[in-house]
Amino acid sequence: MAAVTNMGSSIDPTRPSIARVYDYLLGGKDNYAVDRAVGDVFKRDLPGSVDIAFANRAALARAVREIAKTTGVRQFIDLGSGLPTAENVHEVVQRHAPESRVVYVDNDPQVLVHGRALLENNDRTRVVAADVRNPDGVRTDPGTVDIIDFARPVAVIFSAILHHVNDDEDPAGIVRYWRDHVPSGSFFFISHFRSGNNPETEEAEKVLQQTFGRGRWRTDAEIASLLDGLQILDPGIVPASLWRPAQTDNAYGRGERRELTVWEHLIAAVLARKA
Ligand SMILES: C[S@@+](CC[C@H](N)C(=O)[O-])C[C@H]1O[C@@H](n2cnc3c(N)ncnc32)[C@H](O)[C@@H]1O
Repeated sequence: MAAVTNMGSSIDPTRPSIARVYDYLLGGKDNYAVDRAVGDVFKRDLPGSVDIAFANRAALARAVREIAKTTGVRQFIDLGSGLPTAENVHEVVQRHAPESRVVYVDNDPQVLVHGRALLENNDRTRVVAADVRNPDGVRTDPGTVDIIDFARPVAVIFSAILHHVNDDEDPAGIVRYWRDHVPSGSFFFISHFRSGNNPETEEAEKVLQQTFGRGRWRTDAEIASLLDGLQILDPGIVPASLWRPAQTDNAYGRGERRELTVWEHLIAAVLARKA
């Protein structure tokens, strides 16, 4: 049975949570009226937020699948993992490499409860209740050390999480911590709200900040600086939909050819490697 360690505070259905709003945008059912109200503001004022969420999830799935299929890395730490949805990281990587181990990390109590329910029968997976802004706490958590061998390469996943870390909370320092504590051959995946330096992005940033008190859209150069000291792999920092789309697929994996929407340009994906 997968353990949930370091259980945090209880679920508060009266205040919106990032995890539950995101779940609502992805069409999930693990959300309350207060989350749907915020999600509806996003849908109204930022009609592309659903595109962004799906493009992000699809890029994440492609990245971890590629790591599982083409490298020997069999350990994954998914930081700010979110509520279980379709194609969770352990489902994708264990399909290709069943021995893969996955640690999910989140600080939302609902994620922890649902994560435990989903992972009940998976002894290669753990859910850790921790704050990604305290990377040492995540790395040394009993749930992490139970299944991750830090003498071997690890894939560290920052999917749609670093834009929830404000500048004064040192997002680059968080990535640097992991860079310094994993061996050569480890991978780093980041997806991140991508500033278009245009009025749409400014408006979106404002909505995000007002709702959650955090949310930072960064330029490609700022995202690159988060990966200091790591090798950025092809195709670099690109809109998530353009991050190694499958040959027969378009961004969504639906098989049709089309231009990206304006919104899809607002979420970037990048894979890097520690040399
Ligand atoms: C937008 S969701 C992304 C979920 C998933 N990684 C994905 O890409 O689909 C952001 C998640 O990060 C979590 N989160 C935000 N700040 C966090 C923090 N400081 N520590 C841990 N988790 C955090 C939220 O609870 C939420 O589940």
